[in-house]
Amino acid sequence: MKYYVLTIFPEMIEQVLSTSILGKAADKGIISFEAVNIRDYTLDKHKKTDDYPYGGGAGMVMSAQPIYDAHKAIIERAGHPIRTIYLTPQGSVFKQPMAKEFAKEEDLIFLCGHYEGIDERVLEEIVTDYVSIGDFVLTGGELPAVVMIDAISRMVPGVLTNEESGINESLEGNLLEHPQYTRPAEWNGKKVPDILLSGDHAKVDQWRHEQSLIRTAKARPELLNKAELSDKDVVFLKQ
Ligand code: ADE
Repeated sequence: MKYYVLTIFPEMIEQVLSTSILGKAADKGIISFEAVNIRDYTLDKHKKTDDYPYGGGAGMVMSAQPIYDAHKAIIERAGHPIRTIYLTPQGSVFKQPMAKEFAKEEDLIFLCGHYEGIDERVLEEIVTDYVSIGDFVLTGGELPAVVMIDAISRMVPGVLTNEESGINESLEGNLLEHPQYTRPAEWNGKKVPDILLSGDHAKVDQWRHEQSLIRTAKARPELLNKAELSDKDVVFLKQ
C-alpha cells in the first residue's frame, strides 16, 4: 500500500507516520508514505497557495492550480488512476468497514485542506471520496489523514503480527473491548478479578464476552442493534 498525502504541512504527516507500528511496516516495505508539498507546485511568484473567497467573507480559500498540478504529478508517476480522499467534516463518517474497504487499494491519495476550504472546481476534478472522521471541526485535514492511514494500515496484511491483529477486533463484531489487567495482582488496593487468575480459559472467555456486552450496553447501546447476539447474550443483557 502506498499513501500520498497532499498537504501544505508535510512535516505533520512524516513525523507521525514514521513512528511505532506504521514506521516498522514502512521499514519492511509493506506500506510507504509520501507527503507531497502543495506549495512546490504553485505557479504564483510569491509561492502562495490560497486567495480571497469570491463573494467575500472571512478566511482564505486554497487555490485550484497547485493542488491540481500536484495531484496530476502523482497520477502520472503512478501510471494509473488512484482513489483520492478529501478530508472534510462534510464527508461520510469514517468507520471500521470503510477502513477495511480502503485497505484493498494498491495506493491512496489524501487531500488535506486548510483555512475556509478548497476551490470547489478542483475537488470536482480529482476527489473520489469525501470523508469526515467525526462530528467536530479541526484546523486542517492532516490529523484526519493520519488517523485514517493508521486505521487502514492495520487492515493491510502483514502490518500487524498475528498476536497484534487479535487486538480490538471486537469493534468488527460491533462490541467494545473487555477490560485488561497486568501485574501486580493487587494495585492501589484494587484486585484483578479472580476469574482471570483461575486458569480456566473457557470461563475467562465467557467473562470477557460478558464484559464486552456490559461496556457496549453502557457506552454505545446503538452498536448492540448491529452486533450478532446469541440468545444467551440477550438473556444476559436483560438481567
Ligand atoms: N477537517 C476538519 N475537520 C475535519 C473532520 N472532522 N474530519 C475530516 N476532516 C476534517
